[in-house]
Amino acid sequence: MTIFKTRRELQKFALETKRQGKVIGFVPTMGYLHAGHTSLIDIARRRADVVIVSIFVNPTQFAPTEDLDRYPRDFERDLKLCTEHGADAIFAPEPGEMYSPDASTWVQETMLSRPLCGASRPTFFRGVTTVVSKLFLLAQPDFAVFGLKDAQQLFVVRRMVRDLDFPVEIVAAPLVRDADGLALSSRNRYLSDDERKRALSIHRTLLKCKSEILSRGLAAAPGILNEGKAALAEAGGKVDYLELLDADDLEPVDADTREVLLAAAVFFGTTRLIDNELFEVKK
Ligand code: PAJ
Repeated sequence: MTIFKTRRELQKFALETKRQGKVIGFVPTMGYLHAGHTSLIDIARRRADVVIVSIFVNPTQFAPTEDLDRYPRDFERDLKLCTEHGADAIFAPEPGEMYSPDASTWVQETMLSRPLCGASRPTFFRGVTTVVSKLFLLAQPDFAVFGLKDAQQLFVVRRMVRDLDFPVEIVAAPLVRDADGLALSSRNRYLSDDERKRALSIHRTLLKCKSEILSRGLAAAPGILNEGKAALAEAGGKVDYLELLDADDLEPVDADTREVLLAAAVFFGTTRLIDNELFEVKK
């Protein structure tokens, strides 16, 4: 496995790999890898000749008040996991390598990035789409794998790729959970034992809301979501959002809605966790 530290080295490798007619699969990450990330690497490994994983805690997607400085890092462990899961190359730039100090160009998606996480983190998706664009230009992937844990991010990246004609297929990977139902996240590391137990209420609440929406219909959703928010607060969570949106356009559900995204962002202590259920309401 090769480790690239600079943009130029990675792009040279990627262009040469493509010239040889090989299929490049790409998995962008912020490191502190867990079984959610490695499931993405496994998917890439099955379809690609060459698998590239990036490990970069991207400063432009963090607001000044957020956890950039304390975001967990363990590069040695990440390397071990990448090796075990068959990655061919790692791109791990130093913070100063990715952006010129006077960088002044952004890539911004303006519709799907508005609700949910975009409403509470207004500069987040602009940072994600900008870094993902740069990473695509550097790693030259034929396809890139994104997890449904961050469903809105996946939809936003897919829209960006469509709108800007990136020659990259976006592959969606299922959300991976711990045995007790907690969605795996690098940020779970911040939780105390007590907070972690309380945080199980997120998945429990999503499942309860989902089953009630399926049995009582979309018209009953507002009341069901209110009960869900109450249950999360009861468990000690501070609800950022619990929302049901049309999965096609992330607009409010209506009579034509077929698939929905039921998404939650909840603070336990100072840790903000996200989770979702994506499901069909009409066949
Ligand atoms: P990060 O949070 O490290 O996640 C990297 C990828 O792993 C994302 O596609 C995410 O959806 C996926 N992932 C994380 N936890 C998962 C889980 N429990 N199950 C399935 N997939 C999971 O998302 C980012 O980094 C960044 O925003 C990035 C795209 C790298 C841009 O900086």
